[in-house]
Amino acid sequence: MSVSAEKISVVSPEEMRIQREYIEKIKTILSVRYPESSPKAYVHTYGCQGNVADSERIKGQLFEMGYVFTENREEADFVLFNTCAIREHAEDRVFGNVGALKPIKNLKKDMIIALCGCMMQQKHVSERIKRSYPYVNLVFGTFAIHRVPELLYKVLRGGKRVFETEETKGEIAEGLPVYRDREFKTWLPIMYGCNNFCSYCVVPYVRGRERSRAPEEVIKEAKELISLGAKEITLLGQNVNSYGKNSLSGVNFPKLLEMINELPGNFKIRFMTSHPKDCTKELLDTMARCEKVARHLHLPFQSGNNRVLKEMNRGYSREKYLELIVYAKKVMPDISITSDIIVGFPGETYEEFKDTLSLIEEVRFTSLFTFIFSPREGTKAKNMPDPVPYSEKSKWFSELLKVQERIAAERCKGMVGKTFEVLVEGTTKENDGRLTGRTDGSINIDFEGDESLIGEYVRVKVTNALNWILSGEIQK
Ligand code: SAH
Ligand code: SF4
Ligand code: F3S
Repeated sequence: MSVSAEKISVVSPEEMRIQREYIEKIKTILSVRYPESSPKAYVHTYGCQGNVADSERIKGQLFEMGYVFTENREEADFVLFNTCAIREHAEDRVFGNVGALKPIKNLKKDMIIALCGCMMQQKHVSERIKRSYPYVNLVFGTFAIHRVPELLYKVLRGGKRVFETEETKGEIAEGLPVYRDREFKTWLPIMYGCNNFCSYCVVPYVRGRERSRAPEEVIKEAKELISLGAKEITLLGQNVNSYGKNSLSGVNFPKLLEMINELPGNFKIRFMTSHPKDCTKELLDTMARCEKVARHLHLPFQSGNNRVLKEMNRGYSREKYLELIVYAKKVMPDISITSDIIVGFPGETYEEFKDTLSLIEEVRFTSLFTFIFSPREGTKAKNMPDPVPYSEKSKWFSELLKVQERIAAERCKGMVGKTFEVLVEGTTKENDGRLTGRTDGSINIDFEGDESLIGEYVRVKVTNALNWILSGEIQK
């Protein structure tokens, strides 16, 4: 075993063996309970790609127990919501959907309802579920992903409700089975948790401290993905730039990128999220050098005002952010940059908000993920004076969207006539026989083509730009 693997705390082989035994026991129970056909599981995932990756591991375990998956919750024998706590709106949706399960469960008494993920890691939420949603059978948090077999076994055997939301040291569970919906567009977690404690953010409270997977494990999984036909591998972490910080491996994020870039195969590498505080010129130089790394940088700046950034505890200034952007554009002139923004942080004034607008004008982002501040239980910002009413923040928000829409439309117009390499992701939502895909810079584009191209790279010439949506033609 290498030095880095020794240092990183992983779930013991003995514990993993015990869980596999539970899988076998459940298999037997299910084959008796459902003798005619395989039991069906419905798994719905809210939140970020980290949650999607967790769900793939939970589904992997369910699949081994004998479950098959359905998109229809009414016909499911096991319903699982993997929840997100990032904003109030996300939580409200979950409570609404759990409420909607009640009449379904009334008609189907042996349906098992389970909730997991970030929301469950908050005490006030799990207590509310315990108190007000008695038909929920199983609740588990983000530290118990690998213990699903044991927990589900308890539910199946005992008929009692099971709650497991303890925060542990967060050992990494390697070797879990993974069930992926798509083999060509894949997620690869490289680290878990977050140490940054941005004052508005709930993630460090629900995901625990930062911990990186051993580079050997990451490379092993990357090779596996490539052999299964991955055309795009997105490396995941709340702050990928601090990958490897606490391990002895000596492999930092740029080095890891380079190692994956060297693996043979026709695939692209993406990553998120990059934190400006830990984004270095070394990373940008590495991106520029690595031909498999997509020319896309998602670098959330949150606010363009230094006082607000300080209150947010982000650890960088507007100037430092802009310096990174200038450098990124210098070493990768074709780089596409996207970002996250919070509007209406407690105490933010309109003047300060205007600094966010001017930063957008200066950088000219491809696209933005924009949010109105949402107070989260347990965070510092929840108790900060917040005098600006929501209605006013909404006006600022609309102003921001308008500016960004103009910039995105201008950028898209500038792409007409150019040809891009595009990974075909599927058919368009309108179901008009057209295909949709994404450019290297992560811009959606649709075009005519045969469904057999899904999962392949094609060259597409942009023929039209409608606001920020591109359409084009495949080049032979
Ligand atoms: N780790 C990433 C962000 C993950 S959360 C980073 O630091 O960049 C995704 C986005 O949700 C954040 O970038 C932020 O813009 C938004 N967000 C997080 N907490 C929020 C809150 N309390 N209210 C509104 N938006 C929030
Ligand atoms: Fe939240 Fe900040 Fe961590 Fe991102 S870096 S997950 S915003 S605390
Ligand atoms: Fe949400 Fe948890 Fe991700 S709070 S954004 S699902 S880490």
